[in-house]
Amino acid sequence: MTSAAPLFDVFIADLRAIWRMHGTDEARMAAAREKLQILAASPLIQAHSKGWPLTVGQNLLLYEDPDFGFVVNAVVRPLGYKGGVHDHADAWVLYGVVDGAESLERYAREDDGSVEGFAELRLIGATRGVPGVADIVPPFDIHAEQGASDRSAALIVRSKRVVGRVMQNGYDLAAKKVVKRWGPEQVPYSLA
Ligand SMILES: [Fe+2]
Repeated sequence: MTSAAPLFDVFIADLRAIWRMHGTDEARMAAAREKLQILAASPLIQAHSKGWPLTVGQNLLLYEDPDFGFVVNAVVRPLGYKGGVHDHADAWVLYGVVDGAESLERYAREDDGSVEGFAELRLIGATRGVPGVADIVPPFDIHAEQGASDRSAALIVRSKRVVGRVMQNGYDLAAKKVVKRWGPEQVPYSLA
């Protein structure tokens, strides 16, 4: 397999320049989105992603920046993957499908959040994720990533690492419950 490391290194250099240039995570994510869309549309990355392992309950950890703290993950979903409804606490997340297709469902909160552990949610829309289109998920936005009729792979940029550091919310729609969780296991992985 041709190494995707040189291309990924350019992407990381671009992200570092973006983080240096912009003062807010919102502006950084908007700028990073264009870079991720270009990377995710690259035939080399797409070919490389076909060799990435399945990651149910896990994230591949591709990079964590020592200075700015942003993180780049990859995920690989099996066909028909059913994602849980969740948020990413106070982190901004950029989500770009590299191979296959997914849908990103968005939910609105119907209750006022005043009852501990209770949440009533309503599905308000879904965007189809395909290579070259990246979605921005703002802090505490409630969503779910759903697989399609084939295996899918995606790259994720997180404004900071929350896994193992900040509790995130999972949501049990039917039971109307909030389930606190630490997030997926981080598995170091190289694109060499
Ligand atoms: Fe998510």
